[in-house]
Amino acid sequence: MNIVLMGPPGAGKGTQAEFIKKEYPIPHISTGDMFRDAVSRETELGKEAKKYMDAGKLVPDEVTIGIVEERLAEADCQNGFLLDGFPRTTVQAEALDRVLSSNGKKIDVAINITVPNEILIKRLSGRVSCKECKVVYNLQSNPPSTEGICDKCGGELIQRSDDQGETVAERLKVYQEQTNPLLTYYARQNVLQEIDGNRDSKLVFADIKNRLESLR
Ligand code: AP5
Ligand code: MG
Repeated sequence: MNIVLMGPPGAGKGTQAEFIKKEYPIPHISTGDMFRDAVSRETELGKEAKKYMDAGKLVPDEVTIGIVEERLAEADCQNGFLLDGFPRTTVQAEALDRVLSSNGKKIDVAINITVPNEILIKRLSGRVSCKECKVVYNLQSNPPSTEGICDKCGGELIQRSDDQGETVAERLKVYQEQTNPLLTYYARQNVLQEIDGNRDSKLVFADIKNRLESLR
């Protein structure tokens, strides 16, 4: 199945992607994770992306579309994939449809996770993740057993630079302006599934799983 996972910053896309990939053996493609990896390796892509990420802005479409197109051409994506945080603009969505249709494929479902803004802000301010194994915690809803230390590997827990200060408000604004219109795009294609993300993450996943099963 070809799945797009949508929702504002902090909606739980990454959290739900972890559940989905345990149940369905398809690759999880997160453009945010790809950019963060490039930033930490200090590649040219990373240096370019960092300027936009730290400001809460979107990385330019041509850069983002290029890396996703390359990733989707890899062998493990041929029997389905889970896109997280892409597409985020109408230009990206149209480019994705073009790439897929040239290979006789399409998006089967776009899952949109909805959460009220005040909860998103709380979640983002409480998010920490392991510097080593990347596992994500939340200081309010899912804290580590020892402060600052990853339960899984003992690595150091850090806060994402774009979860700090003014950047969160800018990311929420950019989402409203540039990504929210995509919901209409996918609704017109009859593939949109809206999920209430303001519940325990296991309940959210149970709902997503039901929708995915009904499409199989
Ligand atoms: P990206 O990494 O995609 O960030 P985002 O969309 O802002 O989303 P987040 O990763 O912040 O949130 P999430 O929905 O994954 O939530 P999570 O599960 O972690 O993008 C970062 C930047 O990269 C962008 O700003 C842009 O610059 C660039 N970029 C990326 N893609 C791009 C694109 N396509 N085009 C252009 N630029 C792009 O959960 C959040 C917290 O809440 C965690 O602590 C978690 O434990 C907790 N939580 C999750 N679910 C629940 C629940 N049900 N109840 C309570 N707590 C919960
Ligand atoms: Mg994420």
